[in-house]
Amino acid sequence: MSRLTKTIALLPGDGIGPEVVAAAASVLGDCAGEFGHRFGLVELPIGGEAIEHGGTPLPAETLNACRAADAILLGAVGGPRWDGLPLGQRPESGLLSLRKQLDLYINLRPIHLREPLRAVSPLEPRRRKIDFEIVRELAGGIYFGARGTESENGTERAFDVEAYTVPEVERVGRFAFRRAAARRKRLASVDKANVLATSALWRKTIDRLAADWPEVSLSHLYVDNAAMQLVLAPEQFDVIVTSNMFGDILSDAAAGLVGSIGLIPSMSCGGGPPLFEPIHGSAPSLAGQDRACPIGAILCASMMLREAFGLDTEARRVEAALDRVLTRGYRTADIAEPGATVVGCSEFTGLVREELQQGVKQLEPYGWGV
Ligand code: IPM
Ligand code: MG
Repeated sequence: MSRLTKTIALLPGDGIGPEVVAAAASVLGDCAGEFGHRFGLVELPIGGEAIEHGGTPLPAETLNACRAADAILLGAVGGPRWDGLPLGQRPESGLLSLRKQLDLYINLRPIHLREPLRAVSPLEPRRRKIDFEIVRELAGGIYFGARGTESENGTERAFDVEAYTVPEVERVGRFAFRRAAARRKRLASVDKANVLATSALWRKTIDRLAADWPEVSLSHLYVDNAAMQLVLAPEQFDVIVTSNMFGDILSDAAAGLVGSIGLIPSMSCGGGPPLFEPIHGSAPSLAGQDRACPIGAILCASMMLREAFGLDTEARRVEAALDRVLTRGYRTADIAEPGATVVGCSEFTGLVREELQQGVKQLEPYGWGV
């Protein structure tokens, strides 16, 4: 039995961020208590909330605490209140610079249709076998290239430059091959190599890496085709690897397949401490009403336990507790089928915590890993 001591930086951020981070943090706290770990939770400002308090979306204090942490849990950033700010000063730039400063060049987004939620997927039943991972490059590409606006003879023009180097593609590519090798051994690399120079380099580089993973079958898809394939036959995918921009777009589409963007967690990693965030964003229209879906954030907690701390038993407990609550028919509004019991964010989280505690108590005598 190993008892771990870890420091976790909590960055609630804006909109529904604080509600879902509170949910995930309480689950992590329960896990620590039940399994004898010590998780020190440190809360820090980011995004619009940080702008309000100190004028900058990523205060030095937040960055330093993140560097010193073992893992980071972030809620969401952004909202209409800051929409008028110039690009580099908006809440989103706090998140982008955190990713960049910590050199988090890998973003892993598991797209998995949980058994009790099969009816929530908008797909026909025969297409509902969905279990794949999107590996999105996160520290390069068009997100971090030169951009600007200029005016020539009274005509305004804007530009955003996409650039990738071979090492940038290799490092995220290797991660994706490793994930695929540990799963169903199929890797789909998504690009637009019929048009973009960055994509041609991407494809050539991924092809070269393939020699090191002979057991993985590699395919290449243009991004437009990949979008269609996601909708028509999502069961064909195991691991998808793609650039920053394409990964951003395809992961929202993929979230739609499982019924709600509220369900998907993510891990950003590579250089500094791993950062976990649900992919749903700040959802300003739901903020402060206890209507947010905490499932993406709770799955961030289990992803952190498994991927960052190596606590697979604890992660499985969290997922089992979540599935039991779903099987009992409880739903947040975004995933409510007819007949479901609709509850708010805090009640849903409370139910998961109860199941978690009961599960631990029942299983302990049989020596399950603690
Ligand atoms: C995401 C989000 C961010 C991104 C925004 C908030 C900057 O959409 O994590 O998918 O574009 O990366
Ligand atoms: Mg996005």
